[in-house]
Amino acid sequence: MTMGKIAVVGAGTMGSGIAHVVARGGYEVILCDVEQTFLERALGTIDKNIDREVAKGKATPEEKAAALKRIVPVVDRRNLAQSDFVVEAATEKFEVKAQLFRDLDRICRPEVILASNTSSISITKLAALTARPDKVIGMHFFNPVPVMRLIEVIRGLATADDTVQRVRELAAKLDKTPIEVNDAPGFVSNRVLMPLLNEAMYAVMEGVAKAEAIDEVFKLGMAHPMGPLTLADFIGLDVCLDIMRVLHDGLGDPKYRPCPLLIKMVDAGWLGRKNGRGFYTY
Ligand code: CAA
Repeated sequence: MTMGKIAVVGAGTMGSGIAHVVARGGYEVILCDVEQTFLERALGTIDKNIDREVAKGKATPEEKAAALKRIVPVVDRRNLAQSDFVVEAATEKFEVKAQLFRDLDRICRPEVILASNTSSISITKLAALTARPDKVIGMHFFNPVPVMRLIEVIRGLATADDTVQRVRELAAKLDKTPIEVNDAPGFVSNRVLMPLLNEAMYAVMEGVAKAEAIDEVFKLGMAHPMGPLTLADFIGLDVCLDIMRVLHDGLGDPKYRPCPLLIKMVDAGWLGRKNGRGFYTY
């Protein structure tokens, strides 16, 4: 079956990054979001980020123009009926994704794979809302999507081998490396990463060290490109809190208790780099 037209649903940071790599991979992209302004902002981001590739000689201006031309922005979800494969990258809230999966199941042809870029929501639960649980799968990209090589491929309880195989083939076409994991709270990436970031926040809260010092420990001592608090700001403190709550609720172990300082900062509206204030000011 052809995978010529790939729909990316949600045009935020992750959706625009996914649309970028899918268009650069030679596919037509139907980029869908609920407001025209979100789509325009995403197209602006993609334009700017492909410019980085042009500046480095990794893409020609002609390849940039061709990739941008392959992206068709749409607000009306009914346009998704034309897609051969869907990657959902909407807000990381179960109710939002649940409604979207019900709609996608109704709109898209029955053979179309519905992949979710969720960072922690159960693929098995999303799949159960559709009449095609064998064709629902996790395809978790990492920010910045054009740079990070990994796609964490999450197999729900009912995901078919053929679905996994097709996602592996797509990942290869996008020049990414798929790593297969089973469905469990936080999968592998966030089950291991988030407790590190959360613990760094406890260290700040308890006055063990300042954010800058903690970050330098990880940059200089462990060769992390960003320290854990810079990374938490980069990911978004609201996203970090949502994922800690999924781990805490899903695994029931108090070691996943979200740091009270994280809760307080999110309550204050300090969400990290995206709105200018988190552990650092931007
Ligand atoms: N879009 C496209 N390209 C970008 C980019 C962006 N937003 N930001 C940086 N780049 C590119 C640059 O053009 C540059 O390309 P070349 O290597 O070809 O020169 C490269 O990335 C490195 O950029 P810089 O030299 O400007 O900056 P840097 O060396 O400080 O690296 C970074 C920036 C790649 C973001 C690096 O700091 C890094 O890897 N940080 C960690 C990122 C990380 O851990 N991401 C995962 C977060 S977890 C997640 O996403 C999932 C989840 O579920 C929470």
